[in-house]
Parts: sequence; C-alpha cells; structure tokens
Amino acid sequence: MTVTTDSGTFSYGHLDKGTKLLLDQLLTATPPLPDGPLLDVGCGAGPIALSLAARFPDRVVYAVDVNERAVELCRLNAATNGLDNVVVALPEQVPSDVSFAGIWSNPPIRGGKDLLHSILRTWLTRLAPEGYGRLIVHKNLGSDSLQKWLVSVGFECERVSSRSGFRLLHVTAHTDAHTSGDS
Ligand SMILES: C[S@@+](CC[C@H](N)C(=O)[O-])C[C@H]1O[C@@H](n2cnc3c(N)ncnc32)[C@H](O)[C@@H]1O
Repeated sequence: MTVTTDSGTFSYGHLDKGTKLLLDQLLTATPPLPDGPLLDVGCGAGPIALSLAARFPDRVVYAVDVNERAVELCRLNAATNGLDNVVVALPEQVPSDVSFAGIWSNPPIRGGKDLLHSILRTWLTRLAPEGYGRLIVHKNLGSDSLQKWLVSVGFECERVSSRSGFRLLHVTAHTDAHTSGDS
C-alpha cells in the first residue's frame, strides 16, 4: 500500500513498530468476527484502517481521529489505495447507533491515563455481542496496568502476545461491563 504521512501526525515517514506487530497478527491470526463494521480508534494516516479494509473488503471500516490532518490523510490514503469501504471521521461524526464487530487500535497513550481510559471506554462499550477489541501497547507505556484497569471495569482482557516490549491485548465485554469502575 501507498501511505502518505505528515510531520503533524503520528509516525511520520514510517510504520510504527507497535502498529506493525498489530498488523502482523491481523494478517496471520484473526479470530472469527461477528457480522458488522470494524473500527480503528486513533487512525492517524490510516495503516490499521487500510489494512482492515483490505483484509475485510466486504465490511465497512470506520477510522476515527481527533486530528483533522490525520483524518484528511487517512481519507487520501484510502482513496489512493482504492479502498472504498473506509469511512474516515472525527469521533463525534460516527453515528451513535453503530456497533462494531471488531475494534483495533494503537491507542493514544501520551495524553495520559484518564484520557486513554475515557477513549477506550467510549468505543469498547460499542462492541457488538461476540465482538472483540485488539490493542497494542508498550509495557513501558502502561500495557499491564491498562489490562488490569480494563478487567477492573468489567471487560475481559487477555494478553495475546508479547514482542519487543509490546503487548497485544484482546478485549471482550461482559454483559454488565459498562457500568462499574473508576474512570
Ligand atoms: C499511537 S497513534 C496511532 C496512529 C495510527 N493508528 C498508527 O498506528 O500509525 C494514536 C492516534 O490517536 C489519535 N487520538 C488522540 N486522541 C484521540 C481521541 N480522543 N479519539 C480518537 N483519536 C485520538 C492521535 O491523533 C493519533 O493519531
């Protein structure tokens, strides 16, 4: 794929190492998904969303980011690669009645724990029944405490793999997952 990046967005000029590990798993070992659209939270220039769209050409892939330049680039990159099943949007533009069969993310860590928790809670609570999320987080950036927090607020969260310090987390929802716990 051809992916245009920009100095104002994440991972300028290269594919992030964590993203690459997430994508390796996407291509080699993806558990079955229920029907429905997919989501990339914090799409940046779009490497994850574009890979999902290519891997699952019959599904709609939502790609969201708060950075308008990222949204613009992801849209351009989807068009450049002929992927017309990608819907690129700011978070508030995603219709509130859509639920997701799968959510993939290299989530924004550097804004702090509270922001990260709020973003993950917002989107992971929109998983369809039997759907799952896959998050890549470096251990030095709090992957293990994130896993504990996800469990503490009612999600099931397992570590799928651990490579080069990155943990790939697999997240699913309990039916009562969305009401308890701290922020
Ligand atoms: C670690 S980067 C990952 C970018 C891209 N997915 C990749 O793998 O190269 C996280 C992204 O999350 C975005 N972001 C930050 N806060 C966000 C929010 N509240 N909602 C959605 N995206 C957000 C950032 O702008 C950034 O593009």
